Amino acid sequence: MNLPQIIQGGMGIAISNWRLARTVSEKGQLGVVSGTAIDSVHARILQDGDEGGLLRNVYKKFPFQDIAQRVIDRWFSPNGRAADAPYKSIPLFSEKPSKSLLELTALSCFGEVALARNDNPKASIGINLLDKIRIPQLPSLYGAMLAGVDYVLMGAGIPRHVPGVLDKLADGQPATLKFEVANGEEAEYTFDPSEFLGQPAPKLKRPKFLAIITSATLAISLAKKSSGKVDGFVVETAIAGGHNAPPRGPLQLDDQGQPIYGARDVPELDKIAAVGLPFWIAGGYATAQGLAEAKAAGAVGIQVGTAFACCEESGMAASLRKKIISLAKVGAAKVFTDPFASPTGFPFKVVQVPETLSEKKVYEERKRICDLGYLRTAFRREDGTMGWRCASEPVEDYLRKGGKVEETEKRMCLCNGLIASAGFGQVRKNNIMESMVATAGDSLNDIVRFLKNGADSYSALDVLDSILAPTEIPATA
Ligand SMILES: Cc1cc2nc3c(=O)[nH]c(=O)nc-3n(C[C@H](O)[C@H](O)[C@H](O)COP(=O)(O)O)c2cc1C
Repeated sequence: MNLPQIIQGGMGIAISNWRLARTVSEKGQLGVVSGTAIDSVHARILQDGDEGGLLRNVYKKFPFQDIAQRVIDRWFSPNGRAADAPYKSIPLFSEKPSKSLLELTALSCFGEVALARNDNPKASIGINLLDKIRIPQLPSLYGAMLAGVDYVLMGAGIPRHVPGVLDKLADGQPATLKFEVANGEEAEYTFDPSEFLGQPAPKLKRPKFLAIITSATLAISLAKKSSGKVDGFVVETAIAGGHNAPPRGPLQLDDQGQPIYGARDVPELDKIAAVGLPFWIAGGYATAQGLAEAKAAGAVGIQVGTAFACCEESGMAASLRKKIISLAKVGAAKVFTDPFASPTGFPFKVVQVPETLSEKKVYEERKRICDLGYLRTAFRREDGTMGWRCASEPVEDYLRKGGKVEETEKRMCLCNGLIASAGFGQVRKNNIMESMVATAGDSLNDIVRFLKNGADSYSALDVLDSILAPTEIPATA
């Protein structure tokens, strides 16, 4: 198997976009697009007039043109959108997603993968999804597979069901997954490709599946007990950007309020290597030395996030990237591992950037609203029907839906904050823009090493060149 040494990590929302993944894959490494909320991102690009016709052109490659046309008819505005006009929201996912939402989701994942691949037969492209966001997985994976995606990477949970789902979808068969309903109940959602297409579904290539994990226990369990073949692992340490696994045992906070990770949280790489599947290590490894150390521990290579998140090709809004780079230049880019911000309940790393949700004032001034809803979870109403709630939604709504007040405290709306940080923030009443939130790994200040001769920005190639530079450390132990 020809495996990449570097995986450019999937970073949502739209930070790992097709442009970044294309650049990395052209250099023979694995370029990964983020599929999280990409349906909303594409709907917003289309409403903004789809400059240069990029999306509409790639949608022409979608093998089922009736679907592509319906999405364009519904979301494309030829004259774009006035800067103070709000975006039309797309329907929210639930246990019965609408046909139009399934179509937009599948088509947007198809489009990101196809744009990243750019008809290059040698390119390797992956798609990253979060296990916590269950129901959108099926149409997202199906759309990505229609574009011939090579790898699927998924973490933030235990994605045991995914290998079997990939087998089914590749075979054109209905795929089913389970999702949690509050109080320990589970429910199922099935996506039938033939029903979706309105004709018998074709056979498709089955992408390789890399599970993102933090422990040897999970590696062993996934290798043995998944619904099909797991093809490898990305092992993330607690200093990686984005969501982190919670520390083992009862939550303890340091004097700044961040979760304390201990020796039990350090992944046992020898045990992971003993599973016998290829693996990559992530979390502060974006150096030539890091790559050599990972290989010495038996890994094929590394997955890199933060370094790519702040490069020119990433989807991060230029204004935010500039602020972060200026802070890093003086060693002042601070990352806070927030145990409460994410409605998933997982710790989430928040970069402390002025005028973003990391500032108390900005956070407190935001009026809660839940109109993207990706992190909502299911619950049962008294009449037995299913409802959906998010700990970051307006508190009174959450309580009405049976949630507990303590679960709402200090929660951030990551959906609106992250989509804003990719430049697609919603406009609210009185022309108030949704504020951004940025995430990055603990090694954020180290990005300055990619800046050449006092430059204010760097490219994805600068990152790759620097990691792939010859190093003194031998590649094997
Ligand atoms: C801005 C940003 C967003 C991220 N979003 C995701 C995500 O949506 N899904 C995921 O599996 N990992 C996500 N990650 C983690 C990366 O894919 C990668 O594993 C991690 O950043 C590696 O550690 P490093 O940041 O020290 O390089 C994100 C990381 C960053 C910096």
